Amino acid sequence: MKSKSWPYPRIVAHRGGGTLAPENTLAAMQYGLQHGFHAVEFDVMLSRDHVPVVVHDPELGRTVSGAGGIADYSAAELTAMDAGSWFSAQYAGEHLPTYRAVFDFCQENHIWMNVEIKPAPGSDEATGAAVAELSRTWLETASHATLPPLFSSFSFEALLAAQRVAPSIARGFLVDVVPSDWEERLRALGAVALHTNQKNLTRQLAHAVKQAGYGLFCYTVNDPTRARELLSWGVDAFCSDRIDLIGPDFS
Ligand code: G3P
Ligand code: MG
Repeated sequence: MKSKSWPYPRIVAHRGGGTLAPENTLAAMQYGLQHGFHAVEFDVMLSRDHVPVVVHDPELGRTVSGAGGIADYSAAELTAMDAGSWFSAQYAGEHLPTYRAVFDFCQENHIWMNVEIKPAPGSDEATGAAVAELSRTWLETASHATLPPLFSSFSFEALLAAQRVAPSIARGFLVDVVPSDWEERLRALGAVALHTNQKNLTRQLAHAVKQAGYGLFCYTVNDPTRARELLSWGVDAFCSDRIDLIGPDFS
């Protein structure tokens, strides 16, 4: 059941299709959809020319071959790069997508988005502002009904910029370890939720976050037994890499 503090889906496909498709590509989004997911998390970073693109690592090398940082290349250069071959030959030629392409795919297919704003080093404010500004514009100018995203970020500064530019798009503060001043930070960001590493969450902390009236989201939950435990602690939602083991209607 959806709680008042979490009016969003409960089970979210991490990076599109978890570890079952090349992360953060349109093929991954398609894969998640084929597995019944209408909720996705993905990572957004800025190109050299300040176009948001969907990719996890700030450096080339792991999922996209090449050298240097994402911020060293233009969007035209990045979107020509192969982000599928590293995963399997079946996905060779799958390109690194722009945020716009993934946003449109999600809107067309009624997929809710947790957009993780992932600034390359030194571009926290610029990334938060650009992602928020574009998202706001696309939502305002769409000719069809839209599903607003939920922004999250490990970068407090990026979320502050997103709040300034698009205050009506909801924000979740993302942390690995929950800091002692979590409530103060959520308040400062006008955030609706705390997003945290499931490994570092305790039942007591989960209880405190829910008592304070915030949504509580965990990453990345791949074991069904652990997933049930977290849900029993009051966790509202989580993302998973194992969307074959944990389906969209998991309970
Ligand atoms: O947004 C949750 C999760 O994706 C955060 O970690 O490194 O997988 O982007 P990471
Ligand atoms: Mg992420």
